[in-house]
Amino acid sequence: MIDFRSDTVTKPSQAMLEAMIQAPVGDDVFGEDPTINALENYAANMFGMEAGLYCSSGTMTNQIAIKAHTQPGDEIICDVMSHIYQYEGGGIGFNSSCSVKLINGNRGRMTASQVAESINNIHDVHKPISKLVSLENTANRGGGSCYNFDDIKAIQQVCTNNQLLFHLDGARLFNAIVANNERTEQYGKAFDSISICLSKGLGAPVGSVLLGNKSFIQKARRIRKVFGGGMRQAGIIAAAGLYALQNNIDRLAQDHHHAQLITQALQQKDFIGEILPVETNIIIFEVKGKYTAQQFVEKLKEENILAIAISPSQVRIVVHLDITENMVQKTIDVIKSF
Ligand SMILES: Cc1ncc(COP(=O)(O)O)c(C=O)c1O
Repeated sequence: MIDFRSDTVTKPSQAMLEAMIQAPVGDDVFGEDPTINALENYAANMFGMEAGLYCSSGTMTNQIAIKAHTQPGDEIICDVMSHIYQYEGGGIGFNSSCSVKLINGNRGRMTASQVAESINNIHDVHKPISKLVSLENTANRGGGSCYNFDDIKAIQQVCTNNQLLFHLDGARLFNAIVANNERTEQYGKAFDSISICLSKGLGAPVGSVLLGNKSFIQKARRIRKVFGGGMRQAGIIAAAGLYALQNNIDRLAQDHHHAQLITQALQQKDFIGEILPVETNIIIFEVKGKYTAQQFVEKLKEENILAIAISPSQVRIVVHLDITENMVQKTIDVIKSF
């Protein structure tokens, strides 16, 4: 099977498994797992941030950040497509009792003026207190779209001027950094907290890291325990994450190149409608005419190619490190034959 359903489907490589077997471990709830400590420090240093917290998922790092930054009744400003709102099981309400101000951004990206206009008047008792702005980069439902860093800085300025905290859901942040030749440190300077996923394009089987200053991470560590996310000898899985950070970032450029090649094949077909601009490893495209999105996905499956229909008319293909050049070529040939 050539599996384009998500970049979460990757399996650990032999070298990654080796790193896992060799990992020294200890009880992380006591702070004694050397591999987790190494991963948290490594990730924090990469971004020039003070501390990190290893968690089981990106949902957990995002939800812990929201809980740590807010009080019940506060409001969070985010794009309507954002993962924290759409795909985290209503966790903002469930875990943090906060409301949400949704912004209709451009493929998942908000502007500084949209954020500024969404801030409630702190003196109006009718309104929830605006507390946190959360961005997603790359934006998953935006088709892996990337923020322009100047736009991020402009939003940061709005946050500073209005005493708002600033969180980044960086599940695929390294895709944006590689695609735009950016540096991790510039993100570390811009945000109060960042969530990075190790289990997406970077190819680890599990795990995310939440980054922030020491007091924030101390608070986050307590919340992780309350959420049932304190793990014991989890260095065995953290080793895969550390390996991923040390070895699998630069190669994301190859996934972006593969995504472009597949996009070019799609562009030749008259039953393919709008393709969202492909900036990284995600291709979201409209299927029209002789196939519905679901029928197109089924046709691909007959050829051992897996993709997802994300709406009645749209299909998503996600390229990742288990997709080889040969698989890309086979996919192109199959698309050409339809
Ligand atoms: C943008 C974004 N944020 C957060 C997550 C959550 O990650 P996890 O599946 O590890 O909970 C995902 C998962 O796909 C995602 O795409």
